[in-house]
Amino acid sequence: MSNVVIVGTQWGDEGKGKITNALASCADFVVRFQGGANAGHTVTVNGEPIVFHLLPSGISVPGVSCIIGSGVVIDPLALVEEIDRVRGAGISVGDNLLIDVGAHMVLPYHKAVEAAEEERLGKSAIGTTRRGIGPTYADRISRTGLPIGLMASFDDFRARFTAAAERKNEILERLYGREPLDVGEMLDQLEAAAKRLSPHFADTPDILRGALDQGRNVLFEGAQGTLLDIAFGTYPFVTSSYTSATGVSAGTGVPPRMVGDIIGIAKAYVTRVGAGPFPTELFDSNAEIIRDRGAERGSTTGRPRRCGWLDMVALRYAVAVNGIRRLIVTKLDVLDTFESIPICVAYEIDGRRTETFPRTVDELERAKPVFEEFPGWATDTSGARTEEALPDNAMSYLRTIADMAGVEVAAVSVGAAAHAVVEFAQIL
Ligand code: IMP
Repeated sequence: MSNVVIVGTQWGDEGKGKITNALASCADFVVRFQGGANAGHTVTVNGEPIVFHLLPSGISVPGVSCIIGSGVVIDPLALVEEIDRVRGAGISVGDNLLIDVGAHMVLPYHKAVEAAEEERLGKSAIGTTRRGIGPTYADRISRTGLPIGLMASFDDFRARFTAAAERKNEILERLYGREPLDVGEMLDQLEAAAKRLSPHFADTPDILRGALDQGRNVLFEGAQGTLLDIAFGTYPFVTSSYTSATGVSAGTGVPPRMVGDIIGIAKAYVTRVGAGPFPTELFDSNAEIIRDRGAERGSTTGRPRRCGWLDMVALRYAVAVNGIRRLIVTKLDVLDTFESIPICVAYEIDGRRTETFPRTVDELERAKPVFEEFPGWATDTSGARTEEALPDNAMSYLRTIADMAGVEVAAVSVGAAAHAVVEFAQIL
């Protein structure tokens, strides 16, 4: 290993948490570089599922240092709650957690403004997780945000927060006709959180560059997926961060030339939560089968996920954007009951066939999937741990993905448990 980036190749929820957790045992550092508490990485620890939102998934692995990089937006109140919850599950959170001083804070007014705006948009809403992600990144870019390191000196922070909160209250009252938020109450909560979090504050780019110079193993843990990337996703139906590997340098301070191998994670089918185009979406009983078998409900919001067949046009695009050479396919077992499985190999847009992923949402909305049918395996694969134990048709399905995407498929996951993985000795 040395240094590896894990990225989602779809609209998030590809099962990155499990893979990150497995690789974390070889890592010295696990680093989140973007997103915030909108993410939900489910990892099975001691047989129990545990969901991480802000903490890097590696936190459950003893001896690993976990970094929340400057590209992440941190809700301090949510992070304190998460630390307590994770500790309650027997995981230690102490010196193994470092928070970059430059990471911006999601504050209660960000969540309030986002909720008001989503409601104002009505049918055109993005369908966000309402964790305040977009408004926080917007403040950062417009130079009105508050980096978490400011909380180390709370009196200075108090003045800046008060000014910012009063401004947001004006917006809430005048633009949205909402009740203003209680500034004093928010400050009390934030002061308590600052006491808990400030021992973890650090200059993490410096630590990471030093670690990489010494050849230490660093795992960069992506959240969400490439198609939700602010620059390369299905804008405006995206999240507000660089979810692809392009975000690693900006979100950690590690120079681009030091960023190593990029491993893509793809589910054997596709899901999406929230609004936005989804060419291979299913609306029939097959969607229900996938949703039930794959437990496809949002780990942050509990919303049922939209489900569809594998989309190779989108996957090839994600491979190109990230420079992926190795792919790990997850949740293959969810497809175990199908006699035949369609794969989308091209789109038809305005009567023209294309294998190129459109860069505008209008075009993507008009894209009709062109499917090829592949024979299913109609066999339970959840117990497979070796290549020989996988049915021939399942192996062909994986080989087809590798060939069409022009990547190596290094492993396939066939269940939620950590050991439910088949690693390919000879990469497909
Ligand atoms: P936001 O990130 O809360 O602003 O939401 C923007 C869009 O990204 C919405 O469609 C969300 O459903 C989606 N999204 C955000 N985080 C995740 C995630 O972790 N998995 C899947 N979708 C997500």
